[in-house]
Amino acid sequence: MNHENILVTKESGYAVIQFNRPEVLNALNTKLMEELVESLESIDQDDDVRCVIITGNEKAFAAGADIKEMADASAIEMLGRDQFARWDRIRRIKKPLIAAVSGFALGGGCELAMTCDIIIASETAKFGQPEINIGVIPGAGGTQRLTRAVGKAKAMEMVLTGKMISAEEARQWGLVNKVVPVEYYLQEARNLAEEIAGKPPLAVRLAKEAVLKSFDTTIEGGLEFERRSFYLLFASDDQKEGMKAFVEKRRPDWSGR
Ligand code: HXC
Repeated sequence: MNHENILVTKESGYAVIQFNRPEVLNALNTKLMEELVESLESIDQDDDVRCVIITGNEKAFAAGADIKEMADASAIEMLGRDQFARWDRIRRIKKPLIAAVSGFALGGGCELAMTCDIIIASETAKFGQPEINIGVIPGAGGTQRLTRAVGKAKAMEMVLTGKMISAEEARQWGLVNKVVPVEYYLQEARNLAEEIAGKPPLAVRLAKEAVLKSFDTTIEGGLEFERRSFYLLFASDDQKEGMKAFVEKRRPDWSGR
């Protein structure tokens, strides 16, 4: 597939999607978001890909939605663009998404990283929700996902002041999984993607779904979902193979069935 605003590469077991608008710090315009969502959906159907890395470049993961594209829009035009439908489609991607973040992850960029399942950051990464400085508020989940990740006090401070936090702060606050020197952040994400790609895919899919369930259901509903998923996996060849391999003291050979 040809894309103007992203670069997609397929490695063994995982794919890397890189934003490619460096001249505007990877600002997320409509075209880029459309390309991103289409690629993710097509990758989600590809059995050879078990995990996806989303990344930018050293200077910017993404500095937010493209301000120039929305500066003059009316509320009705914004409604008509229905941009958040694309964000909802990202939320429905079943394969694990790893954000490999260096430099700015601001506004929609921070929200996109938070929509991913795991965030690996370089020491130079900066996270923030600066929308307040341009007269709006986060629109792609920032007030909700940030609050769940770092708690009310810190989320409130970030959203009300628009101030950025460092990678290390983001790690200490529970937003980021790991911080590594800038030379290694992509490699670190690749290592993790390879590791996840080596796991039984049906269990990976249900594990992701079950963890995400905890965000939008009661504990009762979440436990019920987890239990049913657990039972369902006993219908898979990989459960038989995984447990047999353990008993036989050998490495399992996953079929993905
Ligand atoms: C459009 C952007 C942009 C953005 C940067 N650029 N961010 N263009 N939308 N979000 C462009 C600049 O206009 C400039 O282009 C070029 O990228 C380099 O940016 P500079 O500002 O010159 O770089 P620097 O001085 O290093 O400052 C970096 C920065 C600053 C602190 C990240 O660019 C900045 O504050 N950007 C906006 C961040 C922001 O407010 N994000 C939230 C957007 S709203 P030219 O052509 O002038 O050289 C949002 C809502 C999400 O995300 C809702 C859901 C989708």
